[in-house]
Amino acid sequence: MARETWGSRVGFVAAAVGSAVGLGNIWMFPMRVGLYGGAAFLLPYLVLLFAIGVVALTVEWTLGRATKGGPIEAFSKTLPGGKYLGILVNVTMLMIFAFYSLVLGWILRYFIASLTGELAGVNPGAFFDSIAFSKEALLWQFIVIAITISIVAMGVQKGIERANKVMMPALFVFLLILTIRSVTLPNAYEGLRFYLLPDWSKVMSGKTWMIALSQMFFSLSVLGNTMVVYGSYLKDEDDIPLSAIATAFGDTAVAVTAGFLVFPAVFSFGLEPTAGPGLVFVTLPMVFQKMPGGMFFGALFFLLLIFAGLSSTVSMLEVYVDSAITKLNISRRNASILLGLLTFLVGAPSAVNPSYFDWLINISTVYIGPLGALIAALALIKLGVDKAYEELKKGALIDVPELWKPWVKFLYPIVIAVIYISQFLLG
Ligand code: PFF
Repeated sequence: MARETWGSRVGFVAAAVGSAVGLGNIWMFPMRVGLYGGAAFLLPYLVLLFAIGVVALTVEWTLGRATKGGPIEAFSKTLPGGKYLGILVNVTMLMIFAFYSLVLGWILRYFIASLTGELAGVNPGAFFDSIAFSKEALLWQFIVIAITISIVAMGVQKGIERANKVMMPALFVFLLILTIRSVTLPNAYEGLRFYLLPDWSKVMSGKTWMIALSQMFFSLSVLGNTMVVYGSYLKDEDDIPLSAIATAFGDTAVAVTAGFLVFPAVFSFGLEPTAGPGLVFVTLPMVFQKMPGGMFFGALFFLLLIFAGLSSTVSMLEVYVDSAITKLNISRRNASILLGLLTFLVGAPSAVNPSYFDWLINISTVYIGPLGALIAALALIKLGVDKAYEELKKGALIDVPELWKPWVKFLYPIVIAVIYISQFLLG
């Protein structure tokens, strides 16, 4: 059977931005900006985005298009033991989806609570505690996985591309409405100060650069090789380099804007920003309780997160569904259902066991995930950078300097290896 392809350039970029924009943008990014130097954090982030992030997208898409396959196909065609490396990446992706679906399930619950007005009358901290690690969370996690299955089962064009073409524009509109509301609240200025006041001393620290890099790898979905699979659906006449710039820009624009949404609102109501889940599940609900029309804005905010999250989960499931279709020769529909259910089995214990939840996150995003990006770089080098460069130029709407070749061959893999090792050294 012929491999599926994207229906249009716009559809491809919508899907790529959809995969990239996720929970990582809305609360991880603003929090890290706030903690690691305010506006000064944007300097390392933007430098790395252009030097490494855009290159990472071109590497993964080029590898995918050249080998016409996901990680198993791409690595077994290029590297010794590549098949097993590909399987490892698939398993990692399943683990990422397993924990991510739980968090998205909480968000679904909060969305319903905002719609019905229930959120207005609860103590947000106690509400979160009663849901986060509970049997009820299993139900919401299951619903998230079921929605993802139904999109992926419909295929690349009719499912993933179509869903993203609806969710992405809606997401941008919601983000804009919410941000305008937030920055026009009384005392919004305090939040902007917290978010942006540059602390240049933090920029000089290695840890800040490392955090910026790992944030960027997660945010661009390079960490799980999703982009290899998305690249494999590109046709020869499709553009890679300009799409890489557009995706990196779109992803970063959403992340930066999310900070303008979150902090002015939090400070305007005299609350303290907290790191991690507390910000979205406890502090912001307090904001919505105090704000006029808060349940409406709350519902809009959680719907924004649902769209951001679902457009990422479809890209996660697609990685191993595609492997099953091509390697095990089963239909897309059956692969989506079976592997979705398997993900639920692996993820379900995290709904009741916080330490298993933490373990899933650490193994998949810290210990193994970054290796996927490194393996993809090595696979491309093994394919031959000259050949890869020719592949990259096919259908390209802009020129790519020849510098791309040494950059990809030397600088890029070294930088990934350094981040990978330094995260253990710097803690
Ligand atoms: N990029 C997504 C986010 O920022 O939330 C997360 C993600 C999606 C990570 C797909 C890895 C992946 F393969």
